[in-house]
Amino acid sequence: MSDDKPSDPHFGAIIGAGVPRIDGPDKLSGRAHYAADQQPAGLVYGYGVFSTIASGKVSQLSVERARRMPGVIEIFHHGHFPKLYRSPSSFAQGNKVEETRLPFEDERIYYAGQFVALVVADTFENARAAAREVEVSYAEDTALANLEQGVAAHGTQSGSGNHSRGDAAAAFDSATRRIDVTYRTPVETHNPMEMHASTAWWERDHLTIFDASQGVVMARNALSKIFAIPPERVTVHAPYIGSGFGSKLWTWPHAVATAAVAHELGRPVQLVVPRAQMFTTTGHRPETRQRLRLATDGNGKLVSLRHESINTTSFTDQYVETCGSVTKSLYSCPHLTVSHATTQVNRGTPTSMRAPGAAPGLFALESAVDEMAAEAGVDPLDFRLDNYAERDESKDLDFSSNHIVEATQRAAERFGWDERSAEIGSMRQGREIVGYGMAACNWEALKRPCDARVSLRADGTAFASCATQDIGTGTYTIVAQAVSDLTGLPLERITVELGDSSYPDGPVSGGSWATATTLPAIAKAARVALDEMKRYATGANGAFAGVASDELEVAEGGLRNAAGKQVSFADILGAARYGSADGEAHTEGADAQYSYRSFGAHFVEVRWDPGISHLRVARVVSAIDVGRVINETTARNQVEGAIVMGVGMGLFEATEYDARNGRPVNNDYAEYVVPVHADQPEVDVILLDYPDTRFNEYGARGIGEIGITGLAAAVANAVYHATGKRIRELPITLDKLMDDVPEARTA
Ligand code: MOS
Repeated sequence: MSDDKPSDPHFGAIIGAGVPRIDGPDKLSGRAHYAADQQPAGLVYGYGVFSTIASGKVSQLSVERARRMPGVIEIFHHGHFPKLYRSPSSFAQGNKVEETRLPFEDERIYYAGQFVALVVADTFENARAAAREVEVSYAEDTALANLEQGVAAHGTQSGSGNHSRGDAAAAFDSATRRIDVTYRTPVETHNPMEMHASTAWWERDHLTIFDASQGVVMARNALSKIFAIPPERVTVHAPYIGSGFGSKLWTWPHAVATAAVAHELGRPVQLVVPRAQMFTTTGHRPETRQRLRLATDGNGKLVSLRHESINTTSFTDQYVETCGSVTKSLYSCPHLTVSHATTQVNRGTPTSMRAPGAAPGLFALESAVDEMAAEAGVDPLDFRLDNYAERDESKDLDFSSNHIVEATQRAAERFGWDERSAEIGSMRQGREIVGYGMAACNWEALKRPCDARVSLRADGTAFASCATQDIGTGTYTIVAQAVSDLTGLPLERITVELGDSSYPDGPVSGGSWATATTLPAIAKAARVALDEMKRYATGANGAFAGVASDELEVAEGGLRNAAGKQVSFADILGAARYGSADGEAHTEGADAQYSYRSFGAHFVEVRWDPGISHLRVARVVSAIDVGRVINETTARNQVEGAIVMGVGMGLFEATEYDARNGRPVNNDYAEYVVPVHADQPEVDVILLDYPDTRFNEYGARGIGEIGITGLAAAVANAVYHATGKRIRELPITLDKLMDDVPEARTA
């Protein structure tokens, strides 16, 4: 692993500084308007009627009573809905929608919570009241309510992202030590604070939609397919998003339906997805069952690794949770297979949720590695250090930059791993048993093609725009930091506009790739604008007339020559009588010369009080290697938030479905349990901050997702250390710890 921490004269101190979010004041004061805050003139409100069965069809739908309710304008359903076109679900072409079916396509029901009707009325309250009066009867079929029922009914379909090297079966059979264990993870639901919502209207043939979207370009392209109009006639706005965790990456039925009825009625329509339906019709992390088979030689070296995963998908699309994505390359192992399969059940289509694949996948892998280490009689920390891969063996490529060993060692030291007494339940403090656990974390780094625009304006300000979004992670702020760094303008003179599909095409706010994708395009555009500024300055009547452009350097929002004469951008533009110097630029995605990944390790302390059966995560120390940190505050915040979410994944989160009928039973904030303040551990995050300049000029790899990966495994491993119980099914609820019968291990 290379030591590539350079001293880096390329960037000033503002890159990396913990600048507060520049959109913070607007959010705090209510000036930031979200999708459902839009109030165009003549706005009317939609409210859905949602299927109460999970499988079957609508046999009768009567709108007579609902129609007589106050304020009702129109009621749509499968027998009365505008004709739409399908959008080929192509991520590569940037027009992916998660549901391959269109809303209200026919009378069939594939999941509970599917739209069966849409009432439009003059107020939200009237629409909701009338929706309750729509009478729907169903012909109900037996629902496939969970993974086991799906597999039993019709088996599995093979998925994508599979990998094989060597002969894992033969190596397993002849190995010294081996484990064969199966893990399960439940459906988890994103539950962002901001509800999914759309406000849409048409002017002539142009659709404008404010949508709670993590990808305005993707949404624009999908909607243009669905309405069979050019992309230029669709504008998608998402200036602010109250988070999404992946649920807002793609276009869901409610957004399509809102745009369609706005067209039909010829007026603006707003629709908010109720919280209960955010558990059904806007995606979730699917249920998984993962079988891990690991084997080592006599020295504790991995010789065989197999990771087979099945996840639930819907009857309306195949979504593959690529649980083995990290397994391919985290550890060195000559004989390895990763396979993904899906099984169809009567649930809405699953989707990406923070670290899709890796989050449930590393729960299984990093639990199994702990079990393997125990079987091999090796400390789990040493086992990992001995087995980490030095290069990406799945791609046969070097990592662009990999400091997982240092991350693991530094976190271990800060945590105090060497004070761990290995014997189960041997660390006590008062009534509590202390458990220590650890796990590696890992996420891919992606950089996509991107366009951006930067203008330096005669009023002394700068303007930067890109059709990416800020889902709350700090994208507005880091773009401003980059522009400030390149122009010398202070942050308060820089305006950043994102979340508008009419700006130059930018990436989705997802996959942890927005930073690595957007910043190089912004920088390139800023340099084009600065070149133009230099041409204006050195031209006839220019502030530096006759001076060669390359003798000028950028200084404090202006240009300076070798003699020390300095003129502001505003004065240069004023002298030349130009309103602005502008730059637009395109940057390409990362090349395939290296394997680009982020790395890290979590160390977790749990406390188990057997007297009152109380389990808590007391302390987390994590060291994260994500390349350069652009903003110390927002980056740390991403990891801390991901750790809290990982605690939720480990101990609490599960969307429960009634096995008899497939209906979700805890589809609200009261009963879908997430960590509250009392569950919050002490969190200590170490950011390694080694710039990965093979990846992009900033050396940043992105930081939104990695923090959740591996955390639940570290918790489970700590629980094992405290209690001796291997919990292989998330979440680790107290009932699983109170059972005194040890689980049998098959090997
Ligand atoms: Mo993330 S699950 O790619 O928003």
